[in-house]
Amino acid sequence: MTKQTIKRYRDALKANLFIKTQIDQVCRMKREEERNHDSDRFELITLIKHQLKKGIDITPEQTKLGIEWLNKYAFRLNGKPRKQKDNPFTDDHRAIISNFSHFVWCGLKDINHTGNYGHYRPMYKVVSKDGSYFIYVPNVPFNGAPISYCSGVTKPGIPPKKKALKTFVKRQLIDALDKKLGDYIENGIDEDNDCSVGSYSLYTHYMGVGAKLIINGTRHHNLANIKSSSTALRDTEAFNDAKREFEIIKQAESSGVTPYGYGAHAIKTSHGWVAVIFMEHCGITVEEADLCEYEVESVMEELKETLEESTGIYHQDVHERNVVYLDGTYKLIDFSPSWINAA
Ligand SMILES: Nc1ncnc2c1ncn2[C@@H]1O[C@H](COP(=O)(O)OP(=O)(O)OP(=O)(O)O)[C@@H](O)[C@H]1O
Ligand SMILES: [Mg+2]
Repeated sequence: MTKQTIKRYRDALKANLFIKTQIDQVCRMKREEERNHDSDRFELITLIKHQLKKGIDITPEQTKLGIEWLNKYAFRLNGKPRKQKDNPFTDDHRAIISNFSHFVWCGLKDINHTGNYGHYRPMYKVVSKDGSYFIYVPNVPFNGAPISYCSGVTKPGIPPKKKALKTFVKRQLIDALDKKLGDYIENGIDEDNDCSVGSYSLYTHYMGVGAKLIINGTRHHNLANIKSSSTALRDTEAFNDAKREFEIIKQAESSGVTPYGYGAHAIKTSHGWVAVIFMEHCGITVEEADLCEYEVESVMEELKETLEESTGIYHQDVHERNVVYLDGTYKLIDFSPSWINAA
């Protein structure tokens, strides 16, 4: 690669704006770099990938072509929705296309499922005026379906309304945790078989409410925080951590990207008293969900930033088991006080 070419890309990065031909070149460059392992390309691709996590702008010309193209696949000429046949869009996708604001180039997706080297296509985020978005990958012409990847719709964070925890839901959650705790006491935590078991907690959910029992020990049968009375429990680290975690959950709520918190309580189980946090159940972890790597990376970045900017809380432990996904909405969970940097 010539010095001039490298400079052109660095300039584009500085301006955070790429023209269409540059985007296509980057896709080819990624494949070349895999074949030849040259350091210039590697360095440039690394810089570009880093910036893609935050999103890179595209030109007004490309924007115009892009939205026309999407409209063509989403709607018939008479304006009625074009259903499923040659496009993957749902009503939520079509609402974004109708209320379109802008595109963001947000990643490179490998659409080659056979050869040794990747075949990359740009991923674009389609953002609506209300901040909802989806991510898609337009396919190369003459190569099957017009769209080779399309994510679900992600809606912006909306702070939850005040809700009460129903007694029968709480009862059900405690019974389920009681069983999990019995298993834990007998066998310890089985990491491979149960994703909803954290290092320091047991988790279950029922009717939209989640319950996190804080063990705060090691993975090896540390029962120090299970007490015979609620007074004894109140002196434990687990109970204080649960209280503190609940406070942070309440502080974080206004960001709209974290669960609604119901409370942190001392709970009596058949094995003794334990500390439990009740909060909104926000779906499955992005590790379990079959999502695209770039989408997950950009979502994690966005959640972290939204939380920091709106509440001043630094999560500091954002990873694929601490981001959950439900009906197009991502949320950040796990406010264990040892990790969080909050006022
Ligand atoms: N509000 C929630 N909505 C959905 N799932 C949740 C929620 N809170 C916890 N979970 C589930 O329980 C698991 C453990 O919870 P959390 O991450 O808060 O605790 P942890 O003990 O720190 O876990 P780890 O050490 O694995 O990160 C999560 O990875 C997730 O699967
Ligand atoms: Mg966690």
